[in-house]
Amino acid sequence: MTVRIVTLPGDGVGPEVTNQALAVLLTAAEEGGLDIAVEEFRIGGRAVDETGTPLPQETLDACRNADAVLLGAVGGPQWDHLVGDQRCESGLLQLRAGLGVFANLRPVRVHPNLADRTALRQEVVSGVDLVVVRELTGGAYFGRPKERTDQRAVDTTVYTRPEIERVARVAFRLAAGRRGRLTSVDKANVLATGQLWRATVSELAAEFPGVALEHALVDSFAMRLMQRPGDIDVVVTENLFGDILSDEAAVLAGSLGLLPSASLGSTRAGLYEPIHGSAPEIAGMDRANPYGAILSAALMLRHSLDRPDLAAAVEAAVDDCIATSVLTADLGGAAGTAEVGAAVVAAVRGRVSATAGAAS
Ligand code: NAD
Ligand code: IPM
Ligand code: MN
Repeated sequence: MTVRIVTLPGDGVGPEVTNQALAVLLTAAEEGGLDIAVEEFRIGGRAVDETGTPLPQETLDACRNADAVLLGAVGGPQWDHLVGDQRCESGLLQLRAGLGVFANLRPVRVHPNLADRTALRQEVVSGVDLVVVRELTGGAYFGRPKERTDQRAVDTTVYTRPEIERVARVAFRLAAGRRGRLTSVDKANVLATGQLWRATVSELAAEFPGVALEHALVDSFAMRLMQRPGDIDVVVTENLFGDILSDEAAVLAGSLGLLPSASLGSTRAGLYEPIHGSAPEIAGMDRANPYGAILSAALMLRHSLDRPDLAAAVEAAVDDCIATSVLTADLGGAAGTAEVGAAVVAAVRGRVSATAGAAS
């Protein structure tokens, strides 16, 4: 059986990091006997320039028919004058909604070789291993009415009980398979949506007796994330808070360029993207850190392609490369994007054949 992958390189550093992630994915697949067919489509600024819309219908159709989608990043200063549905970012939002991927998993781990390279003290970040589960298709991003005139603008945060339940279930299940701790983050002291969020998550807790649930308010949680991140296992939160907290959490790992994500819905298919943006100021310079994109491909192998063995091999290969200081400039290294990708490709070859050898 051949699995169908769609790649959406997008804008800025998107194509550079997607290229490396794809090379690693294809290597893992080849070594592991997984047949992959890849097709590339347009999204974001490139799609606006060439087709007049940030999410062409053919792109959405192809993604809907794929087993998994690998995305780079969208947006950039040359498209910032666009408004509403014409914006590059809107194309990405339409894609997430169109695929129904409501749960966005953003794992954060601190590699021992990077613990002294972050902005925080080593003892604070050492051993951090947490996952932010961000609700991805609701909240202020999608709520109506949305208005914008010269004098007035309106965004509306809407959440329904079923929307909260389905993402919270993903988070409870994830926590049950990890250290059994779930922190639900909201603004229940002010927002009506926060109150519904808290009540709904609390009610679900009875279904997951093995998980210890705690609630936290987003403002103080943002501080706790920097002060005592080691205590945190799984976090579940609404779309906007999850966006902000996950970039903040990237400080723990050492660079925004390191963090991957998996966006999942009710089927096996998923959307995989690094959490960073198009980083326009370093685009085209072979300077972007591709580890976040590569680790997103690993998440794809685990969550959509049913190959946890290959996912683990890619993750171990990344760990090996970081351990030997194959690092881009954001982490104080001198390696280029392509050089990092090539190092991971080589490490994956070694890893997968070693595993296959051990198994036979
Ligand atoms: P950004 O994530 O692009 O960059 C933030 C900072 O991190 C910059 O200093 C950048 O150089 C650095 N950085 C990001 N990715 C990196 C990488 N892989 N390697 C090394 N350094 C990296 O955020 P921004 O500057 O606020 O936004 C730029 C554009 O990207 C905007 O148009 C924004 O809307 C878009 N964006 C897109 C996505 C996405 O497609 N998923 C995500 C976030 C932002
Ligand atoms: C992300 C990005 C997107 C978001 C933007 C580009 C729409 O910041 O993936 O984190 O806010 O979700
Ligand atoms: Mn973001």
